[in-house]
Amino acid sequence: MSQQNATNSQSIRNIGVLTSGGDAPGMNAVIRAVVRGGIFHGFQVFGIERGFHGMWRGNIVELNSRSVSEKLQRGGTFLMTARSKTFNTPEGVDKAIAMAKVFNLDAVVVIGGDGTFRGARDLAAKGFPVIAVPGTIDNDIACTEYTIGYDTAMNTAMQAIDRLRDTASSHERCSVIEVMGRNAGYLALNVAVATGAEVVMIPEAETNIQSDVIKVLLEGRNRGKKHFIVVVAEGTGNTMEIAETIERVAGIEARATILGHLQRGGSPTLRDRQMGSIMGLQAVECLRQGRVNRVIAYQQGNIIDLDIEEALSMTKTINAKDLERANILAL
Ligand code: F6P
Repeated sequence: MSQQNATNSQSIRNIGVLTSGGDAPGMNAVIRAVVRGGIFHGFQVFGIERGFHGMWRGNIVELNSRSVSEKLQRGGTFLMTARSKTFNTPEGVDKAIAMAKVFNLDAVVVIGGDGTFRGARDLAAKGFPVIAVPGTIDNDIACTEYTIGYDTAMNTAMQAIDRLRDTASSHERCSVIEVMGRNAGYLALNVAVATGAEVVMIPEAETNIQSDVIKVLLEGRNRGKKHFIVVVAEGTGNTMEIAETIERVAGIEARATILGHLQRGGSPTLRDRQMGSIMGLQAVECLRQGRVNRVIAYQQGNIIDLDIEEALSMTKTINAKDLERANILAL
């Protein structure tokens, strides 16, 4: 353990918890676990509202075990979230640390995606202890195989596409559906497999509209397919234009649907509640042991924690085999 990442466990008594960036179902489970686990181990726990924005503005309130009652099954984040422009400056980070000191916070648990993790690293680099928990529907954080909210979002998108299939089938149309994921295609690829999509377009793989989309759809039609599902990851291309091209070039009537923020809401699935709870407890465990500036991650069936710098230097991408499997299943 590096000197920078070890702290005297006795010196941490008051911990803050915040959610930042895009909300994700299951964030409430993490907060609940941090609050209850923290109180169990003798910490005082404070909720920081509206993410880093609320940290520098002092939106900080003490939480008790009852503050997190009835939150586990709720989507969103009851602490609210924001994408703070002010915090993303060196002065913003200084202000946030100064405000944390006003409230006697010794460390903060941050829950969010890659932007949130960079914010956490900025705090750590200036000497303020942090623990980061991955919460994003995109599952695009390199150090972990799982991020909180991913399962719920995949299920929500799957259910929506099942409905779109009903109408595409009735009209013998092609339904072109855009799913979220920012610059990553994990959500799109898994949803495509689960909904039996004919085509999936993800940012990690180049897609040629003629050979990878039009030709695939026409070959499918020639094998007897009467309706089609095309899943487009939002970072790939213009979904409206893709639908328009399919209709114009292939002569298959096409409709575009952008699922959008629908995918971020809803009651978390069992997996997100359970993973969120365990990751939240692991965050507390790190603080209890005086191990700070850590990232909680899921790797090969285990919940682990990694140094934040090390975690942020990792990269991950889609396995080509997964894409190949999706294409085989679409025959
Ligand atoms: O990172 C989660 C996410 O939902 C992405 O999939 C999407 O690109 C982005 O957030 C949308 O952000 P906002 O809610 O700020 O429009």
